[in-house]
Amino acid sequence: MEWIRSHYCGDLRISNVGSEVTLAGWCQTRRDHGGVIFVDLRDYTGLTQVVFKLEINEDAHQEADRIRGEFVLAVRGKVAHRIEGNVNPKLPTGEIEVLVETLEILNPSQTPPYVLENREGVDEKHRLTHRFLDLRHPTLQNNLMLRSKAMQVVRNYFTQEHRFFEVETPILTKSTPEGARDYLVPSRVSPGQFYALPQSPQIFKQLLMISGYDRYLQIARCFRDEDLRGNRQPEFTQIDLEWSFTRPEEIFGIIEGMFAQLFQETIGVEVETPFPRMTYHEAMERFGSDAPDLRFGLELTDISDIAGECELKVFSEVIAKGGSVKAICVPKGAELSRKDLDNLTDFARIYGAKGMAWIKRNPDSWQSPIAKFFTAEQQQALEERVGLGIGDLVLFCADQPKIVYDTLGNLRKELARRRNLIDDSMYRFVWITDFPLFEYSETDKRWAATHHPFTMPNLEDLEQFGESDPGKIRSVAYDVALNGVEVGGGSIRIHREDIQNRVFHLLKLSDEEIASKFGFLMNALSYGAPPHGGIALGFDRIMMFLLQTDSIRDVIAFPKTQKASCLMTEAPSDVDTAQLDELHIRVKASAQQA
Ligand code: AMO
Ligand code: AMP
Repeated sequence: MEWIRSHYCGDLRISNVGSEVTLAGWCQTRRDHGGVIFVDLRDYTGLTQVVFKLEINEDAHQEADRIRGEFVLAVRGKVAHRIEGNVNPKLPTGEIEVLVETLEILNPSQTPPYVLENREGVDEKHRLTHRFLDLRHPTLQNNLMLRSKAMQVVRNYFTQEHRFFEVETPILTKSTPEGARDYLVPSRVSPGQFYALPQSPQIFKQLLMISGYDRYLQIARCFRDEDLRGNRQPEFTQIDLEWSFTRPEEIFGIIEGMFAQLFQETIGVEVETPFPRMTYHEAMERFGSDAPDLRFGLELTDISDIAGECELKVFSEVIAKGGSVKAICVPKGAELSRKDLDNLTDFARIYGAKGMAWIKRNPDSWQSPIAKFFTAEQQQALEERVGLGIGDLVLFCADQPKIVYDTLGNLRKELARRRNLIDDSMYRFVWITDFPLFEYSETDKRWAATHHPFTMPNLEDLEQFGESDPGKIRSVAYDVALNGVEVGGGSIRIHREDIQNRVFHLLKLSDEEIASKFGFLMNALSYGAPPHGGIALGFDRIMMFLLQTDSIRDVIAFPKTQKASCLMTEAPSDVDTAQLDELHIRVKASAQQA
């Protein structure tokens, strides 16, 4: 059969009835109804029912008997109305069928390892091993099509409406610190030396500003060897942007416009702009998180002053040691059982809490293991502070600030989930500003950059706290969070060599280290670097929102597992000794030994 496809499997409608068409695709199901054979023919656009009848073509009918699930077929025939009772209102093509005159089986298929349509019930490992089959499912096909559409909207917005242009930066490069480990690539021609895959294009986009390529865009693949929790992949995609002669407000406005256009054009959702702005300090104090979910209340309240004076030792001792005591008031929470509270206490312990005191406000008294440690005035003050009403519950955490924020920030989200306080149809964006420049790393016993070491410090803070109290220096860095998830981050950069040098020294880099790791950047900064800044948005995470999925693997064609492996190709894998020899590498332990 000479054939050229005339339509896709999702195309045909009543208006096509009577015309001769040629379709190609996969057999989703085959049903034999007393001599009439029905096949649902599928491609990425949808399904068409094709029908083989003895009286139309005996050969085709006979051949159709061989068809099994996932066979690849081409058919030619006439579009016809389905007879009454056979119309399927759930399918766009459900009113028609194709009466097949000729059939060609283009390729048979083994019996698939599971029924492809029923993917939900199948172990994800099994599906990832057969990803090429899983990708045939309409859910994943729709996801990847929307991803393609989203990329198009983003590109168009930046390049057509805002004068950005795309530049590709190297993948084989030198380490760009973004807080994760590097993936290294050994060099064959320079024995013992390695490239690093970029954790982001950060340094290159800054160099492009120095070269005058204002405004830069790249839909950039980034590589980070880090713990792969929830919405992280070892390689992921950023919408990476950089401006010269800019201010955060200009960046915020353009990014807000992008989100509005993207949500409108992909899922028809109107995003409210401008997004609210909140300092890091306020976000931590009110929500215990630098990516607060603003879809519900349950805010944190500081009660350190009251706690410092009460008789409860676990509270007053924490305050004496410089810690804090904060509370969350749960409206109508008094209905929680003892078991619920024990359960929440166990949850709090995951984040380092040593216990979780609570108060239930009954109509005329407190029900609480800690009531007796508070005087009547203290009880009154506490009720007013947290807004405790009859039938409400308060939960407490007393500890060093980091543990208090972590515990209550997560408890807040958990309570909202358990008590159904989250409206899934809401998209609440927020800018978080004024991040601390440095964070103290307990493991390394030194200060580390909160974002990356090229972030512009707040210059007044730098003068005031400099070497004496680096933890107090704020930066001109910002994140954008959506419904409690960090979807992007950026900053104004250091464009002056002296400031960059000072920040490197605060990070305890020696002059030699600065020269060997960042000599080219320091050099470039000395040749007329313009003030500049930018941001990178996590494209995969944004896709998770557009597709309302909790799994980042649902928005990536060939994702990796939590152990950073690809179950289909079995990467990473052993390599030949000859290959290692060429690379001047001897492996200490094989995977098996390890
Ligand atoms: P940052 O490290 O904040 O900034 O990354 C920007 C955004 O990328 C997303 N993201 C990830 N998504 C999936 N998997 C991962 N492993 C992963 N890691 C990060 C997040 C994050 O907000 N160069 C700076 C940007 C800048 O300063 O302009 C940077 O990379 O959504
Ligand atoms: P205890 O005196 O240890 O029996 O604790 C009294 C109450 O305080 C119990 O409900 C504990 O769960 C709670 N609690 C203990 N440590 C803390 C803490 N660090 N923060 C908040 N509550 C705590």
